Amino acid sequence: MCGIVGYVGEKQAQDVVIEGLRRLEYRGYDSAGIALVHDDRIATDKRAGKLANLEKAIDEHPLPSSTTGIGHTRWATHGAPNDTNAHPHLGASGRVAVVHNGIIENFARLRDELERAGHELLSETDTEITAHLIEDEVVAGADLTTAMQNVCRRLEGAFTLVAVDSHDPARVVAARRNSPLVVGIGEGENFIGSDVAAFIEHTREALELGQDQVVTITREGVSVTDFDGNEAEGRRYHVDWDLAAAEKDGFDWFMRKEIFEQPRAIGDALLGRHDEDGQLKLDEVRISDDELRDIDKIIIVGCGTANYAGMVAKYAIEHWTRIPCEVELAHEFRYRDPILTRNTLVVAISQSGETADTLMAIRHAVKQRAKVLAICNTNGSTIPRESDAVIYTHAGPEIGVASTKGFLTQLVACYLLGLYLAQVRGTKYGDEIAAVVRELAQMPAHVERVLADAETIYGLAERFKDTKSVLFLGRHAGFPVALEGALKLKELAYIHAEGFAAGELKHGPIALIEEGLPVFCVVPPRGRDQLHDKMVSAIQEIRARGALTIVLAEEDDDEVTPYADVRIPLPTVPTLLQPVIATVPLQLFSCELATLMGHDVDQPRNLAKSVTVE
Ligand code: G6P
Repeated sequence: MCGIVGYVGEKQAQDVVIEGLRRLEYRGYDSAGIALVHDDRIATDKRAGKLANLEKAIDEHPLPSSTTGIGHTRWATHGAPNDTNAHPHLGASGRVAVVHNGIIENFARLRDELERAGHELLSETDTEITAHLIEDEVVAGADLTTAMQNVCRRLEGAFTLVAVDSHDPARVVAARRNSPLVVGIGEGENFIGSDVAAFIEHTREALELGQDQVVTITREGVSVTDFDGNEAEGRRYHVDWDLAAAEKDGFDWFMRKEIFEQPRAIGDALLGRHDEDGQLKLDEVRISDDELRDIDKIIIVGCGTANYAGMVAKYAIEHWTRIPCEVELAHEFRYRDPILTRNTLVVAISQSGETADTLMAIRHAVKQRAKVLAICNTNGSTIPRESDAVIYTHAGPEIGVASTKGFLTQLVACYLLGLYLAQVRGTKYGDEIAAVVRELAQMPAHVERVLADAETIYGLAERFKDTKSVLFLGRHAGFPVALEGALKLKELAYIHAEGFAAGELKHGPIALIEEGLPVFCVVPPRGRDQLHDKMVSAIQEIRARGALTIVLAEEDDDEVTPYADVRIPLPTVPTLLQPVIATVPLQLFSCELATLMGHDVDQPRNLAKSVTVE
């Protein structure tokens, strides 16, 4: 989710690149860097932290004048967000500089190969290997474009790469696979950006690259090939967004953009989780397999949306691993003097990695010598730093205060953790684990299908925009979905919303049902157990008492049809994975309803993105 910029033209490249990075800073802000081509050499500077740190460094140690440059603002995936891991990365002799967005899945193998050939790699990133590989190619006589093609054919995963070669100063070459890249077409100058915000103040003529394409820009022109060097074409278009809209990719809110980014985010969360012999692998697990086999209890802690991800995780982890699993609000955890031993695994879920309540909970767990594993979206943040292990969710920065892609990728990370524990402890056969992983791999496409029906949900928001109260019902893994649906509505629309376990209804909440009250009902997939039928009975009961039922159920589930005032069709998936898709219509509903009510969706009143006080 990093931001990348490239420029070749007549202006000072430094100014264009820094300005572009400023426009892209919302894509990542844990470090920034620039490389300029000058006098057959590369001049570079890169700094941890926000772009302002880089600007200050350049003010103190000015870079030479240059009209060709590349820049990067980072959202760390491999390696901590420090100066060394910041981009650009240089090849062995400093002739080639590269910036990168994405994850190179086979980087460990390529890194070994380079090290065996005598290359010294300075950073922990997956990016640096590409600078060495491209430089090897140009040193051997290839031009930069051919070098990029040759290297891209060897890479697996998702990437946008942008490179410059100091011996070929008036050319910038970029490539993309499963990661965004656009070219800005100017007069006597051309631009590269991860999105149009990078260059929109210079030109509104853009060229979107296709999958597996390489683009070369010079002052005079732009040429596109595929990875084999065959001529190819991008899609040319005119940008008519203003700058603010460009940052949001044309959406009105970051939150809406982030909802629509979820297929990509889930895909990234799943990337690179297999090694070559099909075994699952996680990011940084500094807990040995033997220790994991000795775990006899799991306690999941988190706050808000992260807590609901933990509730879903409990169903999956207990089912797959047979380890007892508790879920607790982080702020309640340490004050009840929980029973923790060396064989307890505490899982802390936090998008930001800075939530004080969650941090205090893991500090308490560490003191009691429990093992701590973090599920986090922010590389290098405090919670993963203080944990024994971490699974990063790779969602990219989440700007909207109400979590969306953060939540869905937390779910994916929880499933991966459950499957990993099952693998290590042998509670599931390899082919069973592989089958769930295959189901997970379908999730981006399923979410895409749910998003394709957004207009229907928006219509629903229009219909209910004057409502004072909304209820959400679910069972099993659908119960946390109901809670998350209600939380989103509270956060964004400021109206009364509550989520209930459907079975609990008859024990009290059914008294709330009155004529016309909208109730979202998350129906489990039809299966062997009776969950589905019990849910249908609950829907019948509330409808008989006047509720207006909005039923989220499998698209071919005809049994719910007679009791549904509104149907929201869901693709068929296993019960444990259904929260990934069932949450999406609820996010869209809250976002749209709050928009119609005139609220600031990205920054709801009284809320903060990360709450760093207890
Ligand atoms: C705040 C946010 C919520 C978020 C919670 C936990 O309250 O408003 O959207 O779910 O913190 O945040 P974390 O960064 O720890 O996931």
